[in-house]
Amino acid sequence: MTEKLTAAPRPPQSAEEFAAYYELRWRVLREPWSLPRGSERDELEGSAYHLGIFSSGTPMAVGRLHQMDSRKGQIRCMAVDEAYQRRGLGSDILRGLENEARLQDLDQIFLNGRGNAVLFYEKHGYEVVSTGPKFWGIKHFGMLKQL
Ligand SMILES: CC(C)(COP(=O)(O)OP(=O)(O)OC[C@H]1O[C@@H](n2cnc3c(N)ncnc32)[C@H](O)[C@@H]1OP(=O)(O)O)[C@@H](O)C(=O)NCCC(=O)NCCS
Repeated sequence: MTEKLTAAPRPPQSAEEFAAYYELRWRVLREPWSLPRGSERDELEGSAYHLGIFSSGTPMAVGRLHQMDSRKGQIRCMAVDEAYQRRGLGSDILRGLENEARLQDLDQIFLNGRGNAVLFYEKHGYEVVSTGPKFWGIKHFGMLKQL
């Protein structure tokens, strides 16, 4: 692994930071599959909890938590800028979202992990519980962690 980067995850703090947050999400998770801008967002953005790791206002890593029911949260849209992957930022975002879930009194996290990221989530204690949906031809796996 390349040198670890350290900066505390925090929610985006302005309209500009939110725009950059969604832009990174789109660039990492949608653009490579030729999906249009806007496809990186869903109807839960307003109520979800968002985290980014920023360098001079520019996000290097992002991720989101929303509540599924009274016990369970879902993490979605984890994306690290290609230039900064495998340097600990995705782990810091994931831990930050899990901490927020604990603050919200949730005790389980569910996510649909892309096949390429299953090992990453397993390192953080998630277990594959189902073969998840196929989005845009990408195989996903339902994964669960007890907090
Ligand atoms: C998957 C992703 C969020 C991980 O974030 P990251 O910052 O690159 O990962 P970290 O550096 O925190 O990695 C933590 C551990 O997981 C491992 N890991 C990270 N990405 C991995 C991958 N794709 N496959 C296997 N292991 C991986 C690392 O080896 C590391 O272990 P180590 O510290 O013992 O070496 C990031 O690489 C990414 O955005 N990838 C592209 C988009 C994507 O697939 N998002 C997930 C959608 S479900």
